[in-house]
Amino acid sequence: MSAGAAVALAVGLLAGVSTPSRAATSQPCDIYAAGGTPCVAAHSTTRALYASYNGALYQVRRSSDNATRDIGVLSAGGYANAATQDSFCSGTTCLITIIYDQSGRGNHLTQAPGGGAAGGPDNLANATAAPTTINGHKAYGVYVAPGTGYRNNHTSGIATGDQPEGMYAVFDGTHYNGGCCFDYGNAETSSNDTGNGHMEAIYFGNIKVWGYGSGNGPWVMADLENGLFSGVNAGYNANDPTVNYRYLTAIVKGEPNHWAIRGGNAQSGSLSTFYNGVRPNVSGYNPMHKEGAIILGIGGDNSKSSAGTFYEGVMTSGYPSDATENAVQAGVVAAGYSTSSGGGTGGTLTPGSSVSLRATTSCCTDRYIRHQNDQAITSVITSSSSSLDKDDATWIVHGGLANSSCVSFESKNYPGDYLRHQNYQVYRQHNDGSSLFAADATFCPQAGKSGQGTSLASYNYPDRYIRHYNNTVYIAGNGGSHDFDSSTSWADDVSWAVEQPWA
Ligand code: AHR
Ligand code: AHR
Repeated sequence: MSAGAAVALAVGLLAGVSTPSRAATSQPCDIYAAGGTPCVAAHSTTRALYASYNGALYQVRRSSDNATRDIGVLSAGGYANAATQDSFCSGTTCLITIIYDQSGRGNHLTQAPGGGAAGGPDNLANATAAPTTINGHKAYGVYVAPGTGYRNNHTSGIATGDQPEGMYAVFDGTHYNGGCCFDYGNAETSSNDTGNGHMEAIYFGNIKVWGYGSGNGPWVMADLENGLFSGVNAGYNANDPTVNYRYLTAIVKGEPNHWAIRGGNAQSGSLSTFYNGVRPNVSGYNPMHKEGAIILGIGGDNSKSSAGTFYEGVMTSGYPSDATENAVQAGVVAAGYSTSSGGGTGGTLTPGSSVSLRATTSCCTDRYIRHQNDQAITSVITSSSSSLDKDDATWIVHGGLANSSCVSFESKNYPGDYLRHQNYQVYRQHNDGSSLFAADATFCPQAGKSGQGTSLASYNYPDRYIRHYNNTVYIAGNGGSHDFDSSTSWADDVSWAVEQPWA
């Protein structure tokens, strides 16, 4: 039996039902439950952490009118519906106000109050500051700048005292600092430092005040209060390596006189164990005095000089086995975190590559964006089309002329000419070097608005996307004054399959 089948079977047994078809869709909390250590808190702004979760992931609030909007998933067990955020926050700014607990226990994270080390309330994260791609879908992480913090001091089911628990989180391993303390996990319910052993949280960063590992950092350590521990000793522990994967899986777990630190690359490979042994030989840490609050981005006493980015994380009841965590890591890798701007069905938009862009609307799935008489239109292209037609329908992807995190499309057969919009229609024109041309020729890929393929937002008109309308190509809003802004089939018309180049 494969590991996946074993997990599926165990899930079925635990749930008292026989659902082998769940095998392919076990999410982290299904895996922890199958291992006998269920999630008691599950937080993510990028995806569902249970295969059956179909609720809200997080809430945003926009500055224009202080209205709030819950951001859900594209489908049960699936990825965040970032398009909801994009349209709700269009033309204004949004903050993340609530990170919902998917476990059903109501352990939501909200704006942290003041604490012993720093007043409050803490700042909320800018909702667009940590964009990511996950399995080709656009999503946003929680970007913690110094001063930002989330907390819940009134939880249900979180370990207290010396009770066993586990935690994992996925962070941006390149975003950290040396301030105290970018944490996710168990802390004091008073927001005050109540003594050694009153916390048990994952720490990530390069502060060396209490503990550190090999190299220059950053390190994953355990914040056990009045100490970030990289191993059994206060101070230096050689086995805790510097880890700075762009997407980092970080783990801390603890049970009576036993705890561990683990970590790995959230995009590939397996976990390593950086510490696995007894509690530090310092008064207060054995037994532990956990209080069961949950913090994100701050220390137990609301120290908030820290920085980091959080994508997902959970806390469990019980001490998870290494095997359970290894299965969770495999699922995280399979979830497909990426910084690539392309994605979605059929291919990616990698600078330097050539692509053809196929319409996905049911009328037109054999039509591709091509230039003709300097205009961008769609034409039916097949393997028996002329080489001129194939050349006209082939585009070289470049980093965006106005912004390298977006893209521009250079004509295959007219070097130096790019797709650009003018009066909202799209043309092939020669790059004149102006900043207007650069902006008009820059498009920012997102997961397809219809749920398939890729949508391409205009850089300087971000509510407008490359669209075909009566076989002509525009940048179109969803509803608007022009006929090509028609809402009818807009989502399909702005969703393109990125395909192998015809030429
Ligand atoms: O343990 C390190 C930090 O020390 C804790 O996060 C904080 O409560 C205290 O300042
Ligand atoms: O396409 C809309 C705008 O029209 C472009 O930014 C500009 O080139 C033209 O004025």
